[in-house]
Amino acid sequence: MKIPLEPVRGMRDYTPPDSESLTWLTDVFKEIAMSYGYREVKTPTIELFLLFALKSGEEIRRSMYVFKDKAGREVALRPEVTPSVIRIYLRKLQAEPKPIKLYYIANVFRYDEPQFGRYREFWQAGIEILGGDTLIYDAELFYLLKDYYNAINLKEYNFKIGSMALLRALFRAWNIDEDEQDYLLHLLDKKIINEVMKILQVKYPKANPELLNELLKVRTQDPNELMKLESDLLSKYNEAVKAINDLVELMDFLKSYNINNFYIDLGFARGLAYYNGMIFEVEVPGLRISIGGGGRYDNLTQIYGGPPLSSTGFALGIERTYLALQKQGFSIPITKLRALAIPLKREALKPILKLSSMLRKYGIAIELCDGMNLSIKRWFSYANKKGLEIVLVIGDKELARNSVTMKNMKTGEQQMVKIDEALEVLRSWHYLKMK
Ligand code: HAM
Repeated sequence: MKIPLEPVRGMRDYTPPDSESLTWLTDVFKEIAMSYGYREVKTPTIELFLLFALKSGEEIRRSMYVFKDKAGREVALRPEVTPSVIRIYLRKLQAEPKPIKLYYIANVFRYDEPQFGRYREFWQAGIEILGGDTLIYDAELFYLLKDYYNAINLKEYNFKIGSMALLRALFRAWNIDEDEQDYLLHLLDKKIINEVMKILQVKYPKANPELLNELLKVRTQDPNELMKLESDLLSKYNEAVKAINDLVELMDFLKSYNINNFYIDLGFARGLAYYNGMIFEVEVPGLRISIGGGGRYDNLTQIYGGPPLSSTGFALGIERTYLALQKQGFSIPITKLRALAIPLKREALKPILKLSSMLRKYGIAIELCDGMNLSIKRWFSYANKKGLEIVLVIGDKELARNSVTMKNMKTGEQQMVKIDEALEVLRSWHYLKMK
């Protein structure tokens, strides 16, 4: 029987160097998150459907992999990690001192229509700050991201920042219940603005669609422009004024860490229904898809029946981050020197294994190959094609002198040296900077 070799639609196979680049992106994320004091959380791949059904929002709900397990439970492959983190908080972490700072790296699943940068399984690297109720924690998301993007050398990106607090404040003032708010925000996220206006006009006599329309058009980097809205448009909506003040203060926090690549877009909404404060996405010029996003969500614990908890966080799309880097001419930094060890005889195996294991301690990646059954010429061509930098050979000649022949594949230089001088040679070739 012949089986199809293509992965299931929307799934992807990764081979080197892409597989390694993706891992490098998550490794660097992990290092940066840990350097900010975050601890790792690992959540299950499968959760009860209910966990996501309650507040993940229309779009994610529709695009979930949902099925019954063998015991008849309705379960889902996680489409994101935030609800699981909150579930784990409620179950295990409530007594921890706040704020609790967690990071995760996880594969998630969404049954979307596959297209450029949109997959059915993809990786997210994210952080959640639980019990951080002030703006400094919202700002920290951006501080950490700036350091991460510096570390992976992503040069061009922008933060688009909006406020669910502002939109919800108006909707509340217009007596719109939470479910309808979620629906309107979903429509705004999809830019179906006419429909929003129609619903407001028909169903909510207190609503002011013209005011909303004005606000949705505001895109600015200037805090004064926002302050002006307070006096011109929003003066009778106290909560909306507070939301604008928060945005202005957030801008100030960002400036204090020299973050200037952001703009406020009041017409911006996000697809997840749990947000109730500032929201943001990371945009890259020339890419239509965002490479990361997040925001403040203060009510998720209560939706799951727990006590209130103010939280904020984000998740990055790792494949999309890689796409953005590739657009900017990225190649993964070579972290290891790579070598090939060729024993030409059975007796050469022991000394070459010993030498290899010594060199591996210096961070050199050494592949062993079978020089007894295939010609040395074949192995040199192999090393060449794979871009290995060094070849080590031990045969009769070398065995007789307790030596190894070392070839620098970049320069063509070749030397036969005593085995314990191998390190010195690598140093003289400027391959080793160490002690
Ligand atoms: P999200 O915006 O749904 O937010 O996803 C975060 C990131 O995952 C997106 O910005 C994007 O880069 C990537 N992504 C989304 N869908 C796909 C897809 N089909 N294929 C490839 N990449 C994709 C969340 O998931 C929230 N849990 C973020 C958060 C954490 N908010 C607060 N805390």
